[in-house]
Amino acid sequence: MESSNTQNNTYAKGLEGVIAAETEIGFVDGQEGRLVYRGYDISVLSENSNYEEISYLLNFGKLPNRKQMTEYLEQMRANSEVPQDTYDLIQTYGKKAHPMVTLRTVISNLASYDPRESDSSIENQKRIAISIIAKMPAIVGAIHRTILGKDILKSRSELSYAGSFLYYALGRNPDPVETKIMDTALMLHADHGMNASTFSALVTISTLADIYSATTSAISTLKGPLHGGANERALKMIMDIGSPEKAGPYLEAMVARKEKIMGFGHRVYKVYDPRAKILKKYASYISEKSDKKSIFETANKVEEIMINKLGEKGIFPNVDFYSGMIYYSMGLTPEIFTPIFALGRISGWTARSLEYLQNNKLFRPKALYVGERGPKTYISIQERQ
Ligand code: CMC
Repeated sequence: MESSNTQNNTYAKGLEGVIAAETEIGFVDGQEGRLVYRGYDISVLSENSNYEEISYLLNFGKLPNRKQMTEYLEQMRANSEVPQDTYDLIQTYGKKAHPMVTLRTVISNLASYDPRESDSSIENQKRIAISIIAKMPAIVGAIHRTILGKDILKSRSELSYAGSFLYYALGRNPDPVETKIMDTALMLHADHGMNASTFSALVTISTLADIYSATTSAISTLKGPLHGGANERALKMIMDIGSPEKAGPYLEAMVARKEKIMGFGHRVYKVYDPRAKILKKYASYISEKSDKKSIFETANKVEEIMINKLGEKGIFPNVDFYSGMIYYSMGLTPEIFTPIFALGRISGWTARSLEYLQNNKLFRPKALYVGERGPKTYISIQERQ
């Protein structure tokens, strides 16, 4: 960790190791390779639960009983209708913008239909959270259809959260196995400690801005290749490699150019990312079923070489390495992979923003000034060299 102590203030580059908030929502154990949502291990949740339950667990503090689940699903249903203007905006952005640009714009734009967006009471912000979560499957699905040049499906889906997304994105009813795999991927992406996009959301909500703004900040932050953008790039790299035999020379060349291998490494995990472990199993299954087995075999070879080379430095596959392969095998195009990350992470962003708001303190760190202190003499522009 790069840090220094200046005048009793500790400076940590990239805020590495700095604790910025208290939370009861989730915990990442980077040494043991565990991810916990409100005390439940992700491996247990991903086997037994579903995205809707996890969304409730993160946002409301405990797993819902049957009545609470029915009410939550009803609230989601009542809020799931996407305004026609949102669809128009998605079509205006069409193929010319990256789907993450379209997504952040349409989420930001939803606030313009909400006369109560700036009422920062917890109850009102919770209402906004549910409204955004409920619309995400149709919005991300519509963005996928648009970049493929296909019609948007507007008739309301009665399927699950994951199933609805697949229906809106693919234009057909998904089979139960595809739905289970997508549901698992969304559960695994729902929350992950103080990652960059969550931190962004918290900084925004700490100003008493609203959940639309916090979500827009988070989506913008997720877009980058060091965060959510890695899944799209990881798959493109595997496809570019083409076959397991070519993986060695390809990776050698990347390492020689000091390029980062997308889908590997993590700020917190120094062991195998528990999410990647679960996704690898599904990637193997679905790539074989959909005739994309060679992509999985190439990825497996990349993993083997990378672990041999960099495993002792604590660099292992992360969640982004196998997720893209799963989505691609389902017929989804790589540009939509990062919006799918957002589709899962939305519940974590809202939960953490609401939690922070209940015990709010404006984020206002300091910067270490390393410029000249002066005072310098001001020279007018006419006399300046
Ligand atoms: N490929 C090659 N070398 C790597 C990689 C990688 N993917 N990741 C880290 N390293 C090396 C890095 O070059 C450095 O080496 P040295 O000490 O010799 O200079 C050392 O490991 C530490 O790397 P760092 O970038 O300073 O460490 P960090 O904690 O800032 O890195 C990371 C975390 C995720 C930004 C980085 O591992 C990375 O860029 N990975 C590729 C992008 C990626 O897959 N991102 C998705 C992260 S998981 C999804 C999410 O939660 O957002």
